Amino acid sequence: MAAAQGYILAIDQGTTSSRAILFDARGASVASAQQEFPQIFPASGWVEHDPEAIWRSTLATIKACLAKAGVEAAALAGIGITNQRETTVVWDRASGKAIYNAIVWQDRRTADLCAALTRDGHTVEVQARTGLLIDSYFSATKIAWILDHVPGARAEAEAGKLAFGTVDSFLLWRLTGGKVHATDATNASRTNLLDIHTGDWSDDLLTLFKVPRAGLPEVKDSAAAFGITDPSLLGAAVPVLGIAGDQQAALVGQACFTPGMMKSTYGTGCFALLNTGGQAVISRNRLLTTIGYQLDGKRTYALEGSIFIAGAAVQWLRDGLQIITSASDTGPLAEAAADEEDVYLVPAFTGLGAPYWDSAARGALYGLTRKTGRAELARAALEAVAYQTRDLLEAMQADWPSAQSGETVLRVDGGMVASDWTLQFLADLLAAPVDRPVILETTALGAAYLAGRQAGIYPDLDGFASAWARDRRFTPAMPEAVRARKYAGWKDCVRRTLSA
Ligand code: G3P
Repeated sequence: MAAAQGYILAIDQGTTSSRAILFDARGASVASAQQEFPQIFPASGWVEHDPEAIWRSTLATIKACLAKAGVEAAALAGIGITNQRETTVVWDRASGKAIYNAIVWQDRRTADLCAALTRDGHTVEVQARTGLLIDSYFSATKIAWILDHVPGARAEAEAGKLAFGTVDSFLLWRLTGGKVHATDATNASRTNLLDIHTGDWSDDLLTLFKVPRAGLPEVKDSAAAFGITDPSLLGAAVPVLGIAGDQQAALVGQACFTPGMMKSTYGTGCFALLNTGGQAVISRNRLLTTIGYQLDGKRTYALEGSIFIAGAAVQWLRDGLQIITSASDTGPLAEAAADEEDVYLVPAFTGLGAPYWDSAARGALYGLTRKTGRAELARAALEAVAYQTRDLLEAMQADWPSAQSGETVLRVDGGMVASDWTLQFLADLLAAPVDRPVILETTALGAAYLAGRQAGIYPDLDGFASAWARDRRFTPAMPEAVRARKYAGWKDCVRRTLSA
């Protein structure tokens, strides 16, 4: 990127840890710091975070990152925030203190309420406006739950004394010393409350989900002047100039700016986003329609598919079955697995996500013989990631015929993409090229890019896209007959695993 002055700090507030990554004016990462924080499981299916732990770990990593780099906050041209999406915080505007723990995106406590709203026939309206299904995954019912379970909260909310939002808006509030209550369009699009066609909160949906408008943040572009940090925090006033949900930030970091481009992030789970340009494609195959990014008031949409278990299956091999000592064992094991052994793992440990959305399904292994050993199990865990990605791609192609294979470019990131074997199998199974970038920190890079673009030190979209560099392209090499046979085997195993 062009030589310019100033650094950009990206905050990546994730589900299990908070990170800060410093980028220089050319977009190269200079230093980073990371801190885990506790997960709270108060009841079966409930997942919470202490908002103070989120805040403390975020602030600590910002300071640690700057100290590591020997850079003063005054040298920052801007801050970009990216965050675990949907996770919901409700706080008191006067004290700045949360009135309840953050309810995390994985939390299922409002599943019954969502089922009731679905039974009452609201799905079509909600999907048409928000692009989402009615599910406890999203923020609306989480906000309502807090307002209904913390004594007095609903009345205070109606009176405008409480603020709600996703984690980005809570961090922005804290960073600006309680001066700014705002969010960006990508995070807002994960709440079940935003009309993604107008970019504003929908009064009808606020009524349906019983969420008072008075508590909601202002929705802004993903690159915007969000506010200035309180100088007492970092020793200087720094503008916050970019915000995006983590999967959308990865879409930006992967420079997927052209309709038809797709990124897939393989962490614990996997989130695939396909850029559909200015067209909000409403899925007929149970994918989500979401705002990919909003720049200069213009929304770019994406189709999203989420898989719950990707790297988590490898963790299970390591920590549960204890048949590997490190994730990096899986590639060599998969290579050594016997060709004739057709073992399938359907990793429905917590149900199946898109496009099946079967929360009652549970994991299963198929095709075991006396010869099946750790190599075949390792291969089955890696292959499951590719099969599920193909499920998503097929659903995307059915929803949006412009995304035909052969034309689709899949850019990948996340911990699992270190495995060449996995990416080759992915390319083989998708019959599409798979690109691994040089910079694997795509989520943080996306947040930094949004802030740096707003600061005027990073180039426009075209300039950023041409600076995106590939480490390696994986090209499909599997004969079509083998690909078809393997995928048909997977579909059969999924059919036998579904709960109904
Ligand atoms: O939708 C949830 C997603 O944003 C969480 O991402 O990376 O924090 O697990 P991550």
